[in-house]
Amino acid sequence: MPELSGRTAIVTGGVTKIGQGVVTALRDAGAAVVVADIDAEGGARLGTLGSGIHFAQTDITDDEALSRLMDETLVSHGSIDILVNLACTYTDDGAGSGRSDWLEALNVNLVSAVMTAKSARPYLKASRHGAIVNFTSISSSVAQTGRWLYPASKAALVQLTRSMAVDFAEDGIRVNSVSPGWVWSNIMDTLTNGNIGKTDAVAAPFHILKRVGRPEEIGDVVAFLAGDRASFVTGADWAVDGGYSALGPERAEETIPLLAAEER
Ligand SMILES: NC(=O)c1ccc[n+]([C@@H]2O[C@H](COP(=O)([O-])OP(=O)(O)OC[C@H]3O[C@@H](n4cnc5c(N)ncnc54)[C@H](O)[C@@H]3O)[C@@H](O)[C@H]2O)c1
Repeated sequence: MPELSGRTAIVTGGVTKIGQGVVTALRDAGAAVVVADIDAEGGARLGTLGSGIHFAQTDITDDEALSRLMDETLVSHGSIDILVNLACTYTDDGAGSGRSDWLEALNVNLVSAVMTAKSARPYLKASRHGAIVNFTSISSSVAQTGRWLYPASKAALVQLTRSMAVDFAEDGIRVNSVSPGWVWSNIMDTLTNGNIGKTDAVAAPFHILKRVGRPEEIGDVVAFLAGDRASFVTGADWAVDGGYSALGPERAEETIPLLAAEER
C-alpha cells in the first residue's frame, strides 16, 4: 500500500510549477491532496494532474478563510494529516521597500504560515501522523543583491520551524522545512520564455549538480518528510538545492587554476 494512503494533505500555494511537483508527489504516495491557493484560474487547471487533487480557493492571509478550509477539508476528507506551507510572495524592492511592502511580504510568507499551522494543529493532532513542511529557500542564509524582504521572511521561517517543532511535538506533530535551490518555476519560465536549458546553464556555476531542480525533485523530499519513514525527523531544514549551500562562495568549476592563467 502507498505510504500516505488514507491521509489528507493541504498544500498552500500549490497551483504553480513547484506546487504541482509537490501535490503530485503527495498524491502518488497515496494522499488525498487539497490545494489551498488564492489563484482560481490556476486552480481550475489542476484537473490536468489527474485524480486525488482538489482545489479550495483560499486567501491564507484571511483567518476566517483558513478556518473554513480546515472545516471543509475535514467534512470532505475525514482527516487532515499533512500541511505544506508553500504559498509565497516575491514582493521585494530591497532597501527601497516601504512599510506596506514589508508587512505584505511577512504577512504572506511568515505570519500566514503560522496561522495556517495554528488552524490545522487540532486536526494534525487527531491524525496521530501529523506533519508540517514549511517552504524556506537558499535565500534564507545568503545576501542577495536588491532583496531584503523575501530572504528575511524565509530566514524567519527556518527559525519558526524549530520553534514549532518544539511546541507541536506534544501533539505528535513533526515540523520540518525544505530549502530549495533554484527550481524550474513560473518566474524562470517567464524570464527565459520557457527555456529550461538556458535556465540550467545560468544556474550551473553555483549548483554542484550544474542545473536547476525540477519541481518533482522537491516534491519527493516533501513527501518523504510528510510520511512515517521520517518519523525521527523534526525541527530540521532540508537543503534540496543541488549542492548550492555546500559550495558557499565557491563555484561549481575550478577557480584556483585561474590564478596561474595567462593575463590577457
Ligand atoms: N522558484 C524557486 O526557484 C524557489 C527557490 C527556493 C524556494 N522557493 C519556494 O518555493 C515555493 C514556491 O515558489 P514558486 O516560485 O513556485 O512561487 P510562485 O509565486 O510561482 O507561487 C506561489 C503561489 O502562492 C500563491 N499565493 C500567493 N499569495 C497567496 C495567498 N495570500 N493565499 C493563497 N495563496 C497565495 C500564488 O497564487 C502562487 O500559486 C515558495 O515558498 C518559494 O519561496 C522557490
